[in-house]
Amino acid sequence: MKTVIFRYPNDEEINKIGLLLKEGQLIAIPTETVYGLGANGLDERAMEGIYEAKGRPSDNPLILHVADQSMVDSLVKVVTPTAKKLMDAFWPGPLTITLEKSTLVPHKATGGLNRVALRCPKNDLCRSIIKASGVPIAAPSANISGRPSPTSAEEVFHDMNGKIYGIVDGGPCPVGIESTVVEVGTDEVTILRPGAITEELLLTVVSKVHWDPALVEGTEVPKAPGMKYTHYAPNAPMTTYVGLPKALADQFALTLKEVPQDAKIGIFISEETHRAIVEAGLLKDDIASRIELIIYGKQSHIESLGQSLYKSLLVFNERAVDLIWAEGTDRDGFGKAIMNRMDKASSHRIIVL
Ligand code: TXA
Ligand code: MG
Repeated sequence: MKTVIFRYPNDEEINKIGLLLKEGQLIAIPTETVYGLGANGLDERAMEGIYEAKGRPSDNPLILHVADQSMVDSLVKVVTPTAKKLMDAFWPGPLTITLEKSTLVPHKATGGLNRVALRCPKNDLCRSIIKASGVPIAAPSANISGRPSPTSAEEVFHDMNGKIYGIVDGGPCPVGIESTVVEVGTDEVTILRPGAITEELLLTVVSKVHWDPALVEGTEVPKAPGMKYTHYAPNAPMTTYVGLPKALADQFALTLKEVPQDAKIGIFISEETHRAIVEAGLLKDDIASRIELIIYGKQSHIESLGQSLYKSLLVFNERAVDLIWAEGTDRDGFGKAIMNRMDKASSHRIIVL
């Protein structure tokens, strides 16, 4: 199959893409978080195609994407008042809500669970495509299972070329990390996967926010089945360090001494730490030849770290480094979501300095 690229489609092309999706084709679509691998969320066979293309375990349920709140009614038993408040506050946006599903929603979409995950993305092109299809669009991240999620059409092409009908190129994803997933109770929610809609933001709408114990202690089986799998793993082993720039620079100096001279080190740091490392004289010519450097954002602007996290991990795969020395961030606000992904990407090798 030759995968078609639809670059910034016009209205006519949007209608065509919508129809193709409705008829059961697999088409990757941009969202504000990451690219999704879209299929008709009411069509079991189309959704089977998603699991095949991604190599995804079949007990891992999909998110159904809607163009607006009016599409939700037929997909759930009831939109509870708390769910309605959350939709009003955060949709369109990176919040996925699980509610009891109606009989219209096939079991393929929910991995056999009684609840269906719903989200209305904050990307105009994406919502126009969903609207044009007239059906909810099931869309997991458009990567091969286990790899970092794609935040550009090129990255989707890398994983999905030849496996799916098409890719809609709508430019880079501004958030860069998948949506927050919550289970809704009465005036309270439980976070099953952290994302850009943080605990603090949720508390502006509900009086209590719980965390799925599996996210906090890592001992129990997570309620979002997808959270139990290996994820976001770059090819090279990664260790994540958290600390102030000066402490990170000192630690980096130690690593340089310990790692064999012929190993290529991928370093993945903030602007602040880069400055400290340069000031410590650690990036002189002889060392520069041993490293691949990515400055992925500013600690003082945490959104910038989230935006380029996956993109950077994928670059290290291309540059074939032997190990990755990564800087994490504090687990505050959006930092919780970033560290949740970095924890997995580095197989839990997190060192707090
Ligand atoms: O930002 C996003 O959410 C992206 C874009 C494309 O919208 N999508 C995404 O989908 O990340 P996916 O399939 O990669 O992750 C969906 C997560 C998984 O961890 C899954 O287990 C969880 O949501 N999930 C889906 N339905 C669920 C349900 N009924 N109950 C609990 N967790 C559910
Ligand atoms: Mg995913």
